[in-house]
Amino acid sequence: MENVNEIKDKIRQRFVKVAIDPTAPQRHPTGPASAKKLGYDAAEIDGLPAVVTESFAGVGNPLGLHEVRPSETVLDIGCGAGVDSFLAARKVGPSGRVIGVDMTAEMVKKATDNAVAAGVTNTEFHQGEADCLPVPDGAVDLVISNGVFNLCIDKPKVLAEVYRVLRPGGRVQMADILLGEAVTEGQVEKKGAWSD
Ligand SMILES: C[S@@+](CC[C@H](N)C(=O)[O-])C[C@H]1O[C@@H](n2cnc3c(N)ncnc32)[C@H](O)[C@@H]1O
Repeated sequence: MENVNEIKDKIRQRFVKVAIDPTAPQRHPTGPASAKKLGYDAAEIDGLPAVVTESFAGVGNPLGLHEVRPSETVLDIGCGAGVDSFLAARKVGPSGRVIGVDMTAEMVKKATDNAVAAGVTNTEFHQGEADCLPVPDGAVDLVISNGVFNLCIDKPKVLAEVYRVLRPGGRVQMADILLGEAVTEGQVEKKGAWSD
């Protein structure tokens, strides 16, 4: 079986490609057309620069699950190129802020550059991992995440981190993919199965 570092490297390589070569064929739907199919408001997506939406790689719409309130601090785990971060930044307004964390350096750079392209000043992007978030305890009102939890190896540790960074009464809005069937031992052992 692959070790944890090999699995993380594969995941990273996949998303480096989505960051730097978004028009190349990807393993799953990406870009603005995919966001619209997943239920995002078309005008909101079209209102972001193409350089922001071209690397969208989400699997749902976490912001559509509940309201995001003015002045809140939002953490976007696995923010990618920042589509959800920028949409949340509009909702929290100038007195709120959005912190994006992603393990792939190319995504963090792209999200940081995208903030300039989109003229957004209440976002910040950091490289980091979901199971060891670079965020203080109780600093966040709302955690959002889109298509990331399924890629995390130690899921209980990620949930513990989410709990740690949320203030009491804070919320989580996550979009992700779920398996409908049990994974067999054989599938677990199969090399490459993790990020295919
Ligand atoms: C499916 S993409 C979704 C990106 C973004 N949320 C979006 O909707 O466009 C998954 C993202 O999570 C990041 N990622 C994967 N595993 C991670 C982890 N353990 N910690 C932090 N980021 C991770 C990847 O680098 C990638 O940018």
